[in-house]
Amino acid sequence: MVDMDTLTSLCKRRGFVFQSSEIYGGINGFWDFGPVGVELKRRVKDSWWKRIVQWREDVVGLDTSIIAHPQTWVASGHVSHFSDPMIDCKKCKRRFRADEINPSTSSGHGEKKCPECGGELTEARQFNLMFQTYVGANQDAASLAYLRPETCQSIFTEFKNVQSVARLKIPFGIAQIGKAFRNEITPRNFIFRSREFEQMELEFFCHPKESQKWYEYWVQERFDWFLSIGVKKENLRLRPHAKDELAHYAKGCTDIEFQMPFGWSELEGIADRSDYDLSQHIKTSGKDLDYFDEETKAKFVPAVVETSVGVDRTCLSLLIDAYREEEVKGEKRIVLGFHPTIAPFQIAVFPLSGKLREPAIKLEKDLRKYFAADYDEAGSIGKRYRRHDEVGTPFCITYDFQSDQDHAVTVRNRDTMQQDRIAIDQLVRYLNDKFSS
Ligand code: GAP
Repeated sequence: MVDMDTLTSLCKRRGFVFQSSEIYGGINGFWDFGPVGVELKRRVKDSWWKRIVQWREDVVGLDTSIIAHPQTWVASGHVSHFSDPMIDCKKCKRRFRADEINPSTSSGHGEKKCPECGGELTEARQFNLMFQTYVGANQDAASLAYLRPETCQSIFTEFKNVQSVARLKIPFGIAQIGKAFRNEITPRNFIFRSREFEQMELEFFCHPKESQKWYEYWVQERFDWFLSIGVKKENLRLRPHAKDELAHYAKGCTDIEFQMPFGWSELEGIADRSDYDLSQHIKTSGKDLDYFDEETKAKFVPAVVETSVGVDRTCLSLLIDAYREEEVKGEKRIVLGFHPTIAPFQIAVFPLSGKLREPAIKLEKDLRKYFAADYDEAGSIGKRYRRHDEVGTPFCITYDFQSDQDHAVTVRNRDTMQQDRIAIDQLVRYLNDKFSS
């Protein structure tokens, strides 16, 4: 498996991910997605959105503001409980999450020491992970607001609006993709734990008696989605939470974990959250968020099954899963073997020589209507193949001096490196067949 340093440097070299604000020395826990990374992210989000919203009749989408009324976070429990215990080193001033202080670094008297410098540590203090800001000109308690630490809470606060305008009958879901912010004490492992990230969340509302059925359904459905975007089954596992890990209101929770170079780690959580969230917002806002069932004339607060996955973590798992090194004619070849659905480019078009630029650009323009395409004329054909192997482009198409005569091009397969001569008027069909097989 690729190590994190190798992957991080490939991501920088090929334009997947850069450290944010690098020219100023960087800012810890923030990342910028480059031209290829942004395409990968978009494919992941599109695939999720299609499968969760567009292909289903029982789920609608939503796009809410990042800053919500601060009472939202009082109701959700984030103001009082969304914190990690933090410990500082009095000597080197480094900061740790309490669970990162290894007991083996303790002195003989049970006193824990700084793992970096052996210095004396402070007592653990609770540190709230929400970023704070002020809305308006005044910086006082009345204008205090938070950057959302998860996207789902405004799905709950908009529940009534969405349900009534979309005339939705239970069971139904509301989905959202968006940025979330957490002032993590120790962001780490590249884009795995950062301070700004994107979530894709679905809140699926159902009758409380049916929540177990839907919980099981969504665990399977979400696991299948990872397989559909090409994550290898052997690198994925389900980890149901033990009873003592569950929040008091949750009836069940299962993580989908991926085998990262630093161990099995959570990509997504699926949880049966009972009617807790809606009930909290009913209590705090005093507003009626009940559901009225026209058929049975019953009024009740629906239960919710939540699926919550990070876009950045999914991208990281795809990069790790896709990475391979091979030896070709005594040279190292690095390939990202992405599934065509999520590859940043599905095809790349090359002119064999600068003299063939015009017809090659025309061909690429035509193919762009059907596929995510790139045009590349820099360096030798061999270099261009290597470049596109490293960003995971499944097919490279070369327009050569013969193409004008035989109206055909050479198509090179990323994985087999086999080259086929294909008639230009058959290219779309040829590629579509390859992508669907
Ligand atoms: N609404 C439920 C919720 O937010 P969570 O387990 O805290 O649950 C869900 O977060 C997902 O969001 C995680 O499984 C992970 O993929 C992503 N995520 C959470 N914190 C993150 C961070 N600091 N950096 C990157 N992704 C993160």
